Amino acid sequence: MCGIVGYVGSSEAAPILLDGLSKLEYRGYDSAGIAVFDGENIKIEKTPGRLNALVEMTHDGKLLPGHMGIGHTRWATHGKATVENAHPHYNPSMTIAVVHNGIIENYMELRAKMERKGFAFRSETDTEVVAMMLDYYNTGDPVETIIKVMHRVEGSYALGIMFKELPGKMFAARKNSPLIVGKGTDGNYIASDVPAILKYTRDVYYIKDEEIAEITEDGISFFNIDAEEIEEELHTIEWDTNSADKGGYEFYMMKEMMEQPEVIRNTLNPHIVKGDIVFDELKISDEDLRGISRIHIAACGSAYHAGITGKYVIEGMARIPVEVDLASEFRYRNPILDKNAVLICVSQSGETADTLEAMRVASRAGVPTWSIVNAQGSTMTRESDVTIYTNAGPEISVATTKAYSAQIAVFYLLAMKFADAKGLLSAEDKKSYIDDLKRLPEQVEMLLNNKERIQKFANRYVSARDVFFIGRGLDYAIALEASLKLKEISYLHAEAYAAGELKHGTISLIENNTLVTALVTQDELYDKMISNVVEVKSRGAFVMAVTSVGHTDIEEHADYVLYVPETNKYFTNSLAIIPLQLFAYYVSAGKGYDVDHPRNLAKSVTVE
Ligand code: F6R
Repeated sequence: MCGIVGYVGSSEAAPILLDGLSKLEYRGYDSAGIAVFDGENIKIEKTPGRLNALVEMTHDGKLLPGHMGIGHTRWATHGKATVENAHPHYNPSMTIAVVHNGIIENYMELRAKMERKGFAFRSETDTEVVAMMLDYYNTGDPVETIIKVMHRVEGSYALGIMFKELPGKMFAARKNSPLIVGKGTDGNYIASDVPAILKYTRDVYYIKDEEIAEITEDGISFFNIDAEEIEEELHTIEWDTNSADKGGYEFYMMKEMMEQPEVIRNTLNPHIVKGDIVFDELKISDEDLRGISRIHIAACGSAYHAGITGKYVIEGMARIPVEVDLASEFRYRNPILDKNAVLICVSQSGETADTLEAMRVASRAGVPTWSIVNAQGSTMTRESDVTIYTNAGPEISVATTKAYSAQIAVFYLLAMKFADAKGLLSAEDKKSYIDDLKRLPEQVEMLLNNKERIQKFANRYVSARDVFFIGRGLDYAIALEASLKLKEISYLHAEAYAAGELKHGTISLIENNTLVTALVTQDELYDKMISNVVEVKSRGAFVMAVTSVGHTDIEEHADYVLYVPETNKYFTNSLAIIPLQLFAYYVSAGKGYDVDHPRNLAKSVTVE
């Protein structure tokens, strides 16, 4: 999705804007632009394509001198990726510049009105209407002017604004789209996302919905929609600056996969205290936990797949019914929500529009909302009743790996917590599960160390047409995630199927040499899976099996076998996904694709 960065201070603004935008490339974009105020005029440069083009066009920003500026990476929604549609947008006399994330839903109507007032539009975007309205409603008082516009626009927005008549003052406003203000030592910043400004400051304010910020070199003031000045709390970002760099790897995705042992350890450790599972953030007694009659999980994409793992593990260990929904379905299906239920939303970014809305649906129904989130201070963490952080650090690659691994680790812990509260976890099982959890990071490391073998295998499949992933139970949850990983970054057609469902249609797609990846880590389903392997083999499939060490007899049926270390039946997903993430990565890299920025995809989907 689009990215915003802004700066006002004593340094040259353009290089800071370009650097900040480069840190937001991971969000996905197809054009970029900056506006810099040189004390007299606002100068704007923008271009479709990669940020490098903008860096070259502006000679690393030197062609736009000045100490205040706003920048944007655009992911096309209203109108193609062209120079005209790229941000910043401006009014006819170029005295107001605007960058915007989100969607102005009533822009057609507003645009028609502005056109009637004589404003000539240059772009097809919804954003340009904001620049025109700021001009039309300009009272000379910037906060008042911005509020007039906020009252008239519907939809979502994070806005960065500069007025030529107000040198040294930058403005920001938001509704339903993330925006932060960074407090630095030689100036202050705005950004849609922490990595953009992490190099310059860790001290940030989160602008809330329908609030406005006025930012100068040495001051930051906040106003509500009634133009009253308000206080905001300063937060310190704990993330390590290095974690937002590639650390010597060709792509962030490889770096992030390699970080998984540490990420899993960091996510598990705070919750394992003296042989017990501890969740202080839940602020709930065991008795109240026992009173939870049903768990709903809502999420999108890989986070939804993590939720499916959560369902199998929680139902298996704690015997509480769990319903998992795609957030985009949950929000519109008028779900039946019991007051004794809880909704768990899962999200790396904490900003996914559908997941946020699912949370609001449950909140309005009086159902407690918990979120499993990675991005500190994101909207979801502020709106949910309880936040459980996955300590994965910033995830830059569009395709998630380490955040997903952290999410499923949280589900293991929650399942154990519920099971323990309900008296379903014997002391012996608790000890052995905790031992298994503690072993997971080094087992993941072992699998990652074997990556060259996967690379060799993946090289054979760079020109494959279709790939199928099959599994039962928890293995089905992994099949779903492995299939998404492969298709999103390698553009191969991949399908995940519950193995028992093959005979009901899918098996007709199997041809000679079609690659079928069979997930076979669940002992009680082992024989059933072998039958499914035999079924597809006899239709000509080439079968790659992923199973636990010791099951060597599978080599009689499968053509290629990947072994994962042994662990508890509930925790196998953390291991089985690793070779399949690597497989997806190597197919994509082998095809020469930009692994971190798959076409048409954005890291943080903040619009519906
Ligand atoms: C796939 C992927 C997406 C996200 C989904 C939800 O690799 O990353 O499917 O999982 O867009 O995003 P978050 O977790 O930020 O809510």
